[in-house]
Amino acid sequence: MNFRQIPGSLLLMALLAVPAPALAWGAEGHEIVATLALRELTPAARGQVARLLGGETMMIHDANWADEIKDRRRETGAWHYVDIPLNAPGYDRRRDCLRGDCVVAQVEYDMRLLTDRRANGRARAEALRFLIHFVADMHQPLHAVDAGDRGGNDVQVAIGRQRANLHKVWDADVVEALGIEAGAVANGLARSVTPEQRKAWARGTPAIWVNEAHVIARDHVYPLLDGRRRLRLPRDYAERQSAITRTQLAKAGVRLAVLLNNTLR
Ligand code: ADE
Ligand code: ZN
Ligand code: ZN
Repeated sequence: MNFRQIPGSLLLMALLAVPAPALAWGAEGHEIVATLALRELTPAARGQVARLLGGETMMIHDANWADEIKDRRRETGAWHYVDIPLNAPGYDRRRDCLRGDCVVAQVEYDMRLLTDRRANGRARAEALRFLIHFVADMHQPLHAVDAGDRGGNDVQVAIGRQRANLHKVWDADVVEALGIEAGAVANGLARSVTPEQRKAWARGTPAIWVNEAHVIARDHVYPLLDGRRRLRLPRDYAERQSAITRTQLAKAGVRLAVLLNNTLR
């Protein structure tokens, strides 16, 4: 088909009819975290990633696969986040992760599957794709909180002339404010992480990591809302979150590498 033969208005209508994908820690955030982690893999882990996914850089290409299959595999939708109530002291598996349908349980599950060398290759490859994605998601502060607003999805915000919801601002806008080229942002972050930070961040468990994200949401993101479901944010809101965003992305990259290095020996 020759696009020049299609009237411009028809083409525009067709483009507008395609829904914008709802991404989590938008596509760029996932690429940044995967790029960072890949840099820190041991040769053994690198080799296994390459074998399972068909090339080591597939780790970056596949970082958003879990978002792409959400519509086809509805049961996976809840695996991207954990709804820790805003004013709760922290993650409680029995309250927040019924039937294992939350990001903490899924990371634990994918780790176990990946450790099991007797599991079949396709199942292990899928567990690896999920793990690459979910370790990043669990560092997005609004993926670790719920105030009856689905982690800010039901909070309408205006920034200048733009309308969005608060969750989307934290999935995508705060990451894009760091720069629009994932590889360049990842390289900058990798250079900024100190050996002391790397050592400190490598500790902990998925439950401890979501508690960190929850504290950021509770003490840093939600106070500004003051209970509102509709508000105007400052024009430079996304830029002002850069320090937190950088730290959360860097932690996710370091931690993903540690998990893979320990699992794929
Ligand atoms: N849906 C319900 N709660 C959510 C959250 N915290 N993050 C993303 N999607 C959600
Ligand atoms: Zn996700
Ligand atoms: Zn999200």
